[in-house]
Amino acid sequence: MCGIIAHLATDDAVNGLIEGLDRLEYRGYDSAGIAVSDGSDLSVYKRAGEISDLKSDLSAAPLTGKIGIGHTRWSTHGPPTDENAHPHTGDRERVAVVHNGVVENHRRLRKQLRADGHEFTSETDTEVIPHLIEEYLEAGDSPEMAFRRTVDDLEGGNAVAAVFEDEARIFASRDGSPLVVGIDDDEYYLASDVPAFLEHTSDVIYLEDGDVVIVEPDQLRILDPDGSSVKRSHETVDWDPEEAGKGAFNHYMLKEINEQPTSLTNTVRGRIDAEQEIVFEELDTGIFDGIEEVHFVGCGTSHHASLYSARLMSRAGICARAFRASEYVETSGPISEKTLVIAVTQSGETADTLAALREATNRGAPTLAVTNVMESTAAREADETVFIRAGPEIGVAATKTFTSQAVTLALLSQKIAGELPQATLREDLPELLEALARIPEDVQQVIDQNQAAELARDLLTYDAYFFIGRGSSLPVALEGALKFKEITYEHAEGFASGQLKHGPLALVTPNTPVFSLFTGEEIEKTITNAKEAQTRGADIIGIGSADSPGQSVSDAYLEIPATHPVCESLLANVQLQLISYHTADLLGRSIDKPRNLAKSVTVG
Ligand code: M6R
Repeated sequence: MCGIIAHLATDDAVNGLIEGLDRLEYRGYDSAGIAVSDGSDLSVYKRAGEISDLKSDLSAAPLTGKIGIGHTRWSTHGPPTDENAHPHTGDRERVAVVHNGVVENHRRLRKQLRADGHEFTSETDTEVIPHLIEEYLEAGDSPEMAFRRTVDDLEGGNAVAAVFEDEARIFASRDGSPLVVGIDDDEYYLASDVPAFLEHTSDVIYLEDGDVVIVEPDQLRILDPDGSSVKRSHETVDWDPEEAGKGAFNHYMLKEINEQPTSLTNTVRGRIDAEQEIVFEELDTGIFDGIEEVHFVGCGTSHHASLYSARLMSRAGICARAFRASEYVETSGPISEKTLVIAVTQSGETADTLAALREATNRGAPTLAVTNVMESTAAREADETVFIRAGPEIGVAATKTFTSQAVTLALLSQKIAGELPQATLREDLPELLEALARIPEDVQQVIDQNQAAELARDLLTYDAYFFIGRGSSLPVALEGALKFKEITYEHAEGFASGQLKHGPLALVTPNTPVFSLFTGEEIEKTITNAKEAQTRGADIIGIGSADSPGQSVSDAYLEIPATHPVCESLLANVQLQLISYHTADLLGRSIDKPRNLAKSVTVG
């Protein structure tokens, strides 16, 4: 996820661009840049680092221009360096471009452009865009036609904004990545999100996929994919600019829960090809040669995602174990060059996880980091890295990063199973891959049902809250309990459902509801365990599909769409995220910054 801003001003565009980048910083913050023009020469300044670094450089060496574009980056293709920062230009520097999304066919386009003599200066997928535009300009196209033909050539979900040499216009397009127009009398803005310009105007036009926008000093034109002018309606946004980073949501956590259909689309994009092969293009699969066992290391939510993946690997006949990273040194047992150690960490900076990763390296194990942050310490120190592509997460409670971790790790587990001779591929792999590809829509359905908000009202007066599950649903029961305690400050515990009668049942009373995951492959056993709790007076809050037999034993039921058993608990997890959120909200807790906790735990 990156942030785009473009501004056509009556005097100077630079302040509007910089303010917009500040407001979009939540979308990415590892490099930034702007390009401005007065309708003649283009000036570009960009650098790795935070927007504050860009600002201080620009105050020492100001740029001016009435039209401009800006970008704040969250690296996906190429690390955060000055060269990889946006805006990007072509060889002839006739156009500058900012981009949000992934150009899925960038390799093919780059190869073709190289063959035509273009030289590339960055590792980004974006850089093909200005080169393509220049190619069309050289062939005699007008800037408008060159821009339209270029965006038509791009595959994937993309939003693009461009300024040209000798042109007092901004060209932009939206296709699968957000872009919204702001109109402030004679001035115009284009941005990935409304907060970028809300200080100046609340008059907005939400573009549709396939739209191309051309902004000129006295008019704004919107073209459909055929080049015909189209009208899009104006809307008035009534958000408080101070709160607008959260959009229409009261908390970042709720915003991030609602972002999951988008973050999961990014997570799965390009990972399953047309032949149903699993693709991790950033990964050298040579790392799997000779591997006899897999160790996962991670903390908190990342540990739960690891447990989920380890179960999938065990099922494929791979010896796989998930360790709490803080316990790894004491509990790992022998490690060798035949042990693949996978460090799962959203931030890539968790001290305990890094310590476990270093222990593995010191003991000769090949290492793989699964992280959300390119250039994080884990990504730099591990032999190989896989990115979960969830985009920045601001709420301390991990939500969209958990689902992206779990989906990435589900795919990785099947990829590894395909590489190791001792493993067997699932017979239902095609169905599983189909369900993983469909998960963004299924999650959207859970969010749209909006059942959790109402149920949360009945949950405020209990003594404690228990969460039970079995098999691939146990990690989600543990995750549900962690989320609940983290933001409600109420006592919550997750248990393997089959373990209730070995101790935890002593805690069960009419004042302890039991969230029961009727998901996965052994639902009947969990039903039996839930009934044991119900007999002791506990209310059973079941989570499962409409036709799950768990529904009939439940006192309340949260429904999920029918899907592959392996994916069911991931959908149930979204219901549990919403339950935790709404309960914490009704209790008036500090949801985005729970007491005593930090987003990134960099001390061991
Ligand atoms: O950045 P990491 O994934 O390494 O963080 C690990 C834990 O600190 C983190 O998952 C924590 O448990 C979450 N705040 C839970 O919501």
